Amino acid sequence: MTQANIGVVGLAVMGSNLARNLASREGNTVAIYNRSVERTNLLMSEHPEAGFIASETIDEFVASLAKPRTAIIMVQAGKGTDAVISQLAERFEPGDIIVDGGNALFTDTIRREKDVSAKGINFVGAGISGGEEGALKGPSIMPGGSAEAYKTLGPILASIAAVAEGEPCVTHIGTDGAGHFIKMIHNGIEYADMQLIAEAYDILRQAGGYSPAEVAAIFEEWNKGDLESFLIEITAEVLKQVDAKTGKPLVDVILDQAGSKGTGVWTVQTALNLGTPVSGIAEAVFARSLSSQASQRAAVDGLPADATKWNITDRSAFVEDVRRALYASKLVAYSQGFDAIRAGAKEYNWNIDLGAVSKIWRGGCIIRAQFLNRIADAYKTNANLESLIFDPYFKQAVANSVASWRTVVANASLSGVPVPAFASSLSYYDGLRSPRLPAALVQGQRDFFGAHTYKRIDLEGTFHTLWSGDRTEVEQAPSTH
Ligand code: 6PG
Repeated sequence: MTQANIGVVGLAVMGSNLARNLASREGNTVAIYNRSVERTNLLMSEHPEAGFIASETIDEFVASLAKPRTAIIMVQAGKGTDAVISQLAERFEPGDIIVDGGNALFTDTIRREKDVSAKGINFVGAGISGGEEGALKGPSIMPGGSAEAYKTLGPILASIAAVAEGEPCVTHIGTDGAGHFIKMIHNGIEYADMQLIAEAYDILRQAGGYSPAEVAAIFEEWNKGDLESFLIEITAEVLKQVDAKTGKPLVDVILDQAGSKGTGVWTVQTALNLGTPVSGIAEAVFARSLSSQASQRAAVDGLPADATKWNITDRSAFVEDVRRALYASKLVAYSQGFDAIRAGAKEYNWNIDLGAVSKIWRGGCIIRAQFLNRIADAYKTNANLESLIFDPYFKQAVANSVASWRTVVANASLSGVPVPAFASSLSYYDGLRSPRLPAALVQGQRDFFGAHTYKRIDLEGTFHTLWSGDRTEVEQAPSTH
């Protein structure tokens, strides 16, 4: 009996598309299984050309896999994933490979990898980005797990991944949960990117008076330059869309309350724990939360705006200012995202190649963009960049943008247009470049009320001032606070 070199469990749209993609590639024979057999039968009937080996039971499915058995789980993250992992782990043998292709939280993947690898079975958490179309035509794939598993799994994933600059958008990210960690950061950056584009749209619309269709045309122009990206491209399409029912721009009939499956929230929570700022991503998450505070927003009782009209004398200069502010804010969001990767790699003992990550994000994934080529160049020039912003190319880009950035953030604030991600990114930039920060005063405050001690710029050691006494500064042994 012919056996499959790869199997897919879970045949909703993403799983079915991934299975079809795998089957369309030379050298792959694909086994498929779904808990409800109707989905399996539907996929078989709709795509007889795929040559799937279909199973009605998990035992049949396992028997249909050639060793080392390799199966990709494409079911809802959470309990569903755990259930399938258990079913496969009970039947697989040492050396076999279980892949979780869902959006699992990386700490769950670390736990699962530990449990499954204890049986000698490989467990790989793989981020798969690009949505349903990406799964079918070529996603960006971010697998973790062992190097041993990647020897078998890598070529299979490379056969279906998107290709950018002639290279497949897949690489072995690192051990255990590293792949899902990187997918989480990808999603956090995606949130920030989407929020920044939305703020640029809001400024152009509210302050510039442009219609959705006119903003779409502006974005299509921007998409020919440094801001070329999938998200800018699709945003122009959304803004061009007219609602068939009302004849209005679709964006005007969509309820302005943004949803979230939670991956952006994970990014911020993780970054907070890692002590690394991701202000652009955090503001994007909070903007979605604010938009969804329906009762609070409905109870707004004419809060005073006291705003002044944005006096635009040169419309093309105004549009260019917004473009430059968007670019600079986007750079901050990506720079912070890569800082979080470095912090995560240190915390979880992963050896993550930032250049390789930027390369596999050049195609297939939701944040795919020309911009990622520049990031790849930056890490090729200096793999140990303290911040992407310090790369000469990006430093020059910021130098060309910072005046516009300030103009846009200042005028948006004066005219009452909310720009949380633009503004927080500019403040992060100013914080990063400031030689002295008011953190010195915060240390003084902490010492005053909590005796938490502080360090000095001119002496070694830690100090505490006897605030309730003669306020004579005293040196302290290392504080335990
Ligand atoms: C991808 C996307 C995808 C994401 C959904 C929903 O890389 O293909 O990031 O994984 O989960 O687009 O995201 P939110 O509901 O969290 O916006």
